[in-house]
Amino acid sequence: MPTSKSQPFRVIQIGFGSLGQHITSSILKRDNLELVSVVDASPELANKPIRELLQDDIDSDVTIADDLSSVLDSTKADIAIVATSSSLEVVGPTIEECLGSGLDVISICEELSFPYQKKPGLAESLNRVAKQNSKTVVGTGINPGYLMDLLPIVLTGPCQNVDTIRVTRHMNSSHRRPSFQKKIGTGMTNQEFRKNIDEGKITGHVGLVESIQMIDAALNLDLDEIEELPPEAIIADSKITNSFATVEKGDVLGLKSVGVGRRKGEEIVTLDFQAYAEATPQYDEVIIEGLPRIQQRIEGGVQGDHGTIGMILNLIPIVINESPGLKTMKDIPVPRNTMRFWKEE
Ligand SMILES: NC(=O)c1ccc[n+]([C@@H]2O[C@H](COP(=O)([O-])OP(=O)(O)OC[C@H]3O[C@@H](n4cnc5c(N)ncnc54)[C@H](OP(=O)(O)O)[C@@H]3O)[C@@H](O)[C@H]2O)c1
Repeated sequence: MPTSKSQPFRVIQIGFGSLGQHITSSILKRDNLELVSVVDASPELANKPIRELLQDDIDSDVTIADDLSSVLDSTKADIAIVATSSSLEVVGPTIEECLGSGLDVISICEELSFPYQKKPGLAESLNRVAKQNSKTVVGTGINPGYLMDLLPIVLTGPCQNVDTIRVTRHMNSSHRRPSFQKKIGTGMTNQEFRKNIDEGKITGHVGLVESIQMIDAALNLDLDEIEELPPEAIIADSKITNSFATVEKGDVLGLKSVGVGRRKGEEIVTLDFQAYAEATPQYDEVIIEGLPRIQQRIEGGVQGDHGTIGMILNLIPIVINESPGLKTMKDIPVPRNTMRFWKEE
């Protein structure tokens, strides 16, 4: 792990959507990181200078490229950040191309956070390509990637016994990016919400199953059934307006999604995710029934977009120094703030 000040880590940002733009701004503001390129598939963004699109007043000469291959051929970088899609089928080829060009990769693709059970073939392929190129790939984020998986795993450290784990995330989604509020159905009628969820036009939260699988693998819980219950709409009992939408009484504020892991019919892990406009109070809570019993509540919750970006920035030095292969958050050294870590030539 580098500790002395030398060179910044050179970063390519892939995906310049809602989150990609914030990640880009945050990279530019961090002294130990250097943004060398931004790539996005959208034709509307091609060749545009990022300083014209970023909300922050930022001085950068970087323009958006639409052809990843030519960027990889012409740019010397250490790592790529991939923020394009929740689907591993979609991000897989992009990640493999980056690994093949000698870059480590961090992605916030939810399905990458623990891909071994849902997408074993893709996981095996990513692991093989990473090892062939002596590089590392990790899926991270605030959730999945931290609050509902790594955090409860770490909290079991002092437990002599663990009987059950319950994690609740109760979030006011009015403070989240518009693409998040859209995917949880804010402003839809209940009927539109059901139809959009059933047709896969909105996804709700993605990652509960991956988080339970990661906890199971980390603690050898021997779960024999992992189930994600259908998302439930949370309905407004009065009209509310936020910066994203006006929600009429009876329409959808957001959703509740629950994932459970069972052993012989007994519920061992429960993840309860609730995100809706004007939810109060906000908190993230882990309750471990065991010896000792542990109850940890983060009052106010962790703001998800800031937290996701923090996870990415902080993981850059850790992933660059990690041994090759496909890794998950339970496999790598403890995440921590790394703003004072530099690359050693
Ligand atoms: N793990 C976590 O905690 C966490 C947290 C936050 C977000 N996420 C996930 O991160 C992803 C990005 O979020 P977002 O809100 O920024 O989404 P977004 O606003 O839809 O942005 C995605 C951007 O990537 C572009 N893109 C798609 N495929 C591409 C490719 N192959 N190469 C280059 N660019 C490509 C899209 O272009 P087009 O519009 O032309 O398709 C779009 O500009 C989402 O799937 C989200 O669920 C995970």
